[in-house]
Amino acid sequence: MTRLIPEPYRIKVVEPIRLTTRAEREAILAAAGYNVFFIKSEDVYIDLLTDSGTAAMSDAQWAGLMVGDEAYASCRNYYSLKEAVERIFGFRYFMPTHQGRAAEKVLFAAMVKPGDYVPSNTHFDTTHANIEAVGGHAVDLPIAEGLDPTNKHPFKGNMDVEKLRGFIREVGAEKIPLAMLTITNNSGGGQPVSLANIRAVKEVLSQHGIPLFIDACRYAENVYFIRQREAGYADKTTLEIAREIFSYADGCTMSAKKDGLANIGGFLAMNDEQLFQKASQLLILWEGFLTYGGLAGRDLEAIARGLWEALDERYLQHRIGQVRYLAERLLEQGVPILEPPGGHAVYLDARRFLPHIPQAQLPGQALVVHLYLEGGIRAVEIGSVMFARKDEATGEWRYPQLELVRLAIPRRVYTQTHLDYVADVIIELYRKREQIRGMRYTYEPPFLRHFTARFEFV
Ligand code: F0G
Repeated sequence: MTRLIPEPYRIKVVEPIRLTTRAEREAILAAAGYNVFFIKSEDVYIDLLTDSGTAAMSDAQWAGLMVGDEAYASCRNYYSLKEAVERIFGFRYFMPTHQGRAAEKVLFAAMVKPGDYVPSNTHFDTTHANIEAVGGHAVDLPIAEGLDPTNKHPFKGNMDVEKLRGFIREVGAEKIPLAMLTITNNSGGGQPVSLANIRAVKEVLSQHGIPLFIDACRYAENVYFIRQREAGYADKTTLEIAREIFSYADGCTMSAKKDGLANIGGFLAMNDEQLFQKASQLLILWEGFLTYGGLAGRDLEAIARGLWEALDERYLQHRIGQVRYLAERLLEQGVPILEPPGGHAVYLDARRFLPHIPQAQLPGQALVVHLYLEGGIRAVEIGSVMFARKDEATGEWRYPQLELVRLAIPRRVYTQTHLDYVADVIIELYRKREQIRGMRYTYEPPFLRHFTARFEFV
């Protein structure tokens, strides 16, 4: 038996949570149009909607808020963050932003022209949307194993290097201003990318003079997987592995709401001076002066401290261990999930969980609704509600290959007992899965459907 890893922290401040009654939850769901984004967070018992901006800050981070320097320009906290970014990521230039997507917006506006292509292992939604917003094409080139929910490949987040080579040949390097790697790959299940893959991608790009940018939101979790799974890294420190990852990149975008252990913030970093100058102009226009980028001084300090804490091995061991623990409890009872579990979330496979519900009747959404109904648990659908598209010519719907429900684990927020409760609710639901009915839209917005759609049972 492997020994349990207890929470590597003790609790100093508590936030009460309350489980509503089933009758209350029925009424709450109906009032929300069966869209969990409209449920008041106070009516949620265990909130697994996202791991973004939901972390519990440490006492050191809270103390950091008190030394926030709120001067408009060149506040002291900018320098704390600058030092952390230089030492962990190693890029020559950096600029804070209010969150990850703001860094993306600045980067693509500075680098991408209409008709350009930006390949990635898999772009996150905001990355994809920000590339298209400036007239570019966002292209995903994941390895085939990454799309198979039961394939146990250790680095399912990898990019397909051969496809990348072919893609560059097909569209021409002059049409590719940059390529990206998302680590870990959120849209592909929080799966890590290996250092061997990062090196191979960099090598292909270098032959064509194409810069590599890393979407670094969950880089510390990726570091931990490399240390665990990749030959030659077991004895390296997390900082050494992080430094090696970023040594192959020309820059990165970062959402500090994930592995910055902060509730808001992000940054954009790069080595190229001309790009830095161009991006600086856009940053000042959209986010604010170069030393605060849409954040208060105290936020900068919380991020600087959080970045270091997220590289702490004991923290990462517990963090990744929590996700694995929940996954294993579900697998023991035959609950179908995406395997192996990723770094920040367990993904239920709704197609195998509810094989009697066709994709046209939104099995992922039905599962999300029942998780709330049964146990007050809030998850997010990553399936047909988010991704199905109507073919304009034929009027036919095209459904995504994966129909998932993400249970994202906020950092340092829930204990093992909370996770046991989540597992118990899901296992119970799985045993009576035949009773779950499909859903249909009562309101279907034209885009970003999942945020504002409304539903009813079929
Ligand atoms: N890149 C990745 C891989 C992300 O997961 C996210 C956010 C972003 C970029 C954008 O960062 O939210 O700070 O603007 N993911 C959140 C999630 C929203 O729930 O997975 P942001």
